[in-house]
Amino acid sequence: MLSYDAIQRPELDQWSFTETEFNPLAQGKCESVMSLGNGYMGLRSATEEAYIGATRNLFVNGTFNRFDDFEVTELPNAADVTQVELLIDGKRFTLETGSVTDYARTLNLRDAELTRSFVWESDQGKRIRLEFRRFVSMHDRHLIGMKLQITPLDEGISLRLASGINAQMSNSGSQHFHEGEKRIFDKKYLQLIQTTTETKVDFVLSAQHQFWIDGTAVELAPQMEIERRKMEMAYSVELKAGQTLEMQKLIQVHTSRDSDVHDAGNLESLRTRSLETLKKSGATGYDRLFEQNQQAWASLWDRYHFEIESANRFDLLALRFAIYHMMVMTPVHDRRMGIGAKGLSGEGYKGHSFWDTEIFILPFFIYSEPEVARTLLEYRYLGLEGARRKAKENGYEGAMYPWEVAWPSDGEVTPVWGAVDIVTGKQTKIWSGFIEQHITSDIAYAVWHYYQATGDQKFMDDYGYEMIFDTATFWASRLEWDEEASRYEINEVIGPDEYKEHVDNNAFTNYMAHFNLQLALQYYDELKTRNPQLLSHLDSALSLQHYAQEWQEKAAGIYLPKPDERGIIAQDDTYLEKRILDLTPYKSQTKVGTLFQDYSLDQVNEMQVSKQADILMLFYLLENRFAPELKRANYDYYEPKTLHDSSLSFSTHSILASDFDDKKLAYELFRRATEIDLGPHEHSSDAGIHSASLGGIWQCVVMGFAGVRMLDGELHLHPKIPGKWQRLSFPLYWKGSLLKLNITKDQLQITTDSKDEIHLVIEGKKVSFTGQLQFEMIHI
Ligand code: BGC
Repeated sequence: MLSYDAIQRPELDQWSFTETEFNPLAQGKCESVMSLGNGYMGLRSATEEAYIGATRNLFVNGTFNRFDDFEVTELPNAADVTQVELLIDGKRFTLETGSVTDYARTLNLRDAELTRSFVWESDQGKRIRLEFRRFVSMHDRHLIGMKLQITPLDEGISLRLASGINAQMSNSGSQHFHEGEKRIFDKKYLQLIQTTTETKVDFVLSAQHQFWIDGTAVELAPQMEIERRKMEMAYSVELKAGQTLEMQKLIQVHTSRDSDVHDAGNLESLRTRSLETLKKSGATGYDRLFEQNQQAWASLWDRYHFEIESANRFDLLALRFAIYHMMVMTPVHDRRMGIGAKGLSGEGYKGHSFWDTEIFILPFFIYSEPEVARTLLEYRYLGLEGARRKAKENGYEGAMYPWEVAWPSDGEVTPVWGAVDIVTGKQTKIWSGFIEQHITSDIAYAVWHYYQATGDQKFMDDYGYEMIFDTATFWASRLEWDEEASRYEINEVIGPDEYKEHVDNNAFTNYMAHFNLQLALQYYDELKTRNPQLLSHLDSALSLQHYAQEWQEKAAGIYLPKPDERGIIAQDDTYLEKRILDLTPYKSQTKVGTLFQDYSLDQVNEMQVSKQADILMLFYLLENRFAPELKRANYDYYEPKTLHDSSLSFSTHSILASDFDDKKLAYELFRRATEIDLGPHEHSSDAGIHSASLGGIWQCVVMGFAGVRMLDGELHLHPKIPGKWQRLSFPLYWKGSLLKLNITKDQLQITTDSKDEIHLVIEGKKVSFTGQLQFEMIHI
């Protein structure tokens, strides 16, 4: 269904992909993977004409609202602006009647433009050419542009277009807005003002339509309609054969949470601003506005310039796809907002952020645009308030980060009820919000990672130390003393593998908690000499003197599971005793979660079946604590028991395979990761793209194939590009210097404009250089 060739525009080779046939039964795929956005807002790519099964979504980052006490807060689905109803000779246009030729719906990643074009032949035998274009501006983050061109090819048609702002939307039924205020100014400008029901965030949407026939501007008199939660303009026109009608629709989106708008909290000034900017956009016109968007994207692509020479041209496209979506979903403009597990491309996971950000996506920013990584970590700093509350509510101290987070101060927002239990017919309880606790040390790890790679001392002084200390305090209060075994344990948790609930001593959780405690101790000692003033300030806020002793004692006494005689580390206390199930039938499925058609989660809990990388994740994050043979043995043990039902799984497996020098496997797993969203599976992305997996794709290439690692504060490189690749080149920031790496099978070249001497370790050998380095690799 998707073609990865640049069908109509060869210059977009490896920059675009195309849907070549419309399938009304699988609309979710293209709606998500072709979604548009700019970090401020995200627009799902539903078609202009309506079909059953379409999901229209417009999200503005950070505008969370809670429908009622029985639901958790979520990103509200704002009014729709994309639907355009076309009546051709009095009949509603739909691809479900008549016949279609030359169909192509393309996402152009380079310019972030969605296009759709085809020739449609009506049941009456009239052929009409239709072309649609759409973008969400990276230049003006509040702007959406749409263009539509209609040309009857054989005979004239009478055409009626109805388009407007439709707030009869919901999030799967939950309505997040008050009815609001609707107004049409000068028979031209539509404006809708709505406020979210609980958080009282004002949304102001303004839209206008403009028309041209064969390039000449025309004024079409509208029929205006205002209904409940909806306003619409209908325009009628007669078109002769060969004449082209062009409609441009421009939309401005603002909310009272806008941080770039002066006085956004003042509704009067917001509505005036919205209307004024809309008028200005109208005077500029789609083409020029689109050019400005194009330029903004061009400078982003300059910054993230990758080159891959591969026998498979898809590889570079897949990487660009991943980077495109990371640009589209990341709120670089506002530190009060995070990255949703589905970005801004669908209702899945309600716009909430998970460890996906810190462990899967953040590395991309740390090494490509450190200021954005910093903003994302500041979001977690703001989240300390909710994390402290969660700790208190659960009887702990310090900061216990929520498993799912929305507005930073909200605290825990994980929903409580999930999918059907096939045995009982009831909904399965989601335990992650209560007991998936590794997120706290994942965040501490991310702070450390950022600091090591950037040396950003100011961030640490302002935010980082506080986060590390208070998370360590949480772990110290969380550990349980086992008298018999004479050790501290962490019982009753879920580790990264969510198919094992209520387990004791999940190795990942215990090791990462230990890491968190040790890190706090290290920084505490360092600050004593480096910045006693800051330490004393933090001490009075966080009682560090009191807690440091506890960190020490608990870090020394925590149980860290060791390998058995086969070299296997138990994922948790009971995993290795559970029944083994032959997963062959499930592993070959294209859909995830098929195991649950045969077993309930309770039953799966009693089997050696994993959803995703768990202990293998630990080997990646705390790499130099484990020997290579041990990693391989555990990989061979756990991978056959892993269904990769979470999109977070393949990339970690691929990186580890690169570490074992199994290039073929690493490449295969990289391809599996790229196929999660971009592959042929028709329903894999219905609820939205998979943010973590996209970060994971970048990591497969940079951390896996290029072997980039930060170890003990040093930058290590150990490239092993796949057999099918001839060359890989990309930018990488290290401690403030921008390095450009160029890797072939035998050579590594690094250039930098930085005047600083760069120190790194290549294939285990310490190297220093300024300006340029050429390194002949010996592949050890
Ligand atoms: C995974 C989690 C992940 C979440 C959001 C779940 O299916 O098991 O690890 O954080 O999805 O992507």
